[in-house]
Amino acid sequence: MIIAIDGPAASGKGTIAQRLAVRYGLPHLDTGLLYRATAAALMGAGRDLYDERAAIAAARGLGLTEFDETMLRRREMGEAASVVAAMPGVREALLEAQRAFAARPAGAVLDGRDIGTVVCPRADVKIFVTASASARAQRRALELAQRGERADYGAILADIEKRDARDSARSAAPLRAAEDAVRLDTTHLSIEEAVAEAQRIVEAARVRA
Ligand code: DC
Repeated sequence: MIIAIDGPAASGKGTIAQRLAVRYGLPHLDTGLLYRATAAALMGAGRDLYDERAAIAAARGLGLTEFDETMLRRREMGEAASVVAAMPGVREALLEAQRAFAARPAGAVLDGRDIGTVVCPRADVKIFVTASASARAQRRALELAQRGERADYGAILADIEKRDARDSARSAAPLRAAEDAVRLDTTHLSIEEAVAEAQRIVEAARVRA
């Protein structure tokens, strides 16, 4: 079973994907990390973030380098990832690895922006997770504060709105729900409620299959 979870930053898609993976005993790939790692490799090599040729080379060389997940999850890395993720050549360079991950015999759970539309258009289950920008900013602020990072709500909200705009407006695999995705709005849901709802969506898809 392939489960595709898409949605904007801090919508809860990562946690939902992780929990579904445990529940169904499937491997999980957070595809945002690939874009974050590409941006980190580029910056680590001292290259300009907007240098598309260097970004493509960084994406192709990803497997060769080890990255620190805590560093990749920092706020500024999300912003940098969103820049390289708008480059068609970078997306293409990362596509095969994502599809290979999804092709594992038992299936997999992948979360990102274009899993249901581009990476796994034939996924068994597609969930598009949303939440209001203010709810997402509050969650992100809390998460950063818990990690000991500075968490200014206004800056985080502005960052989320900027990233939404960039991820949705780009021409290469923009953030949008697949036509056959089930929408899950988590604005007023606790994480437990959101996971339970996602599980109901998976179970309903299994009954239909
Ligand atoms: O989910 P995240 O915040 O870790 O993602 C970081 C950036 O990577 C996000 O702004 C857009 C990009 N991304 C993408 O374009 N496609 C994906 N499948 C996953 C992430």
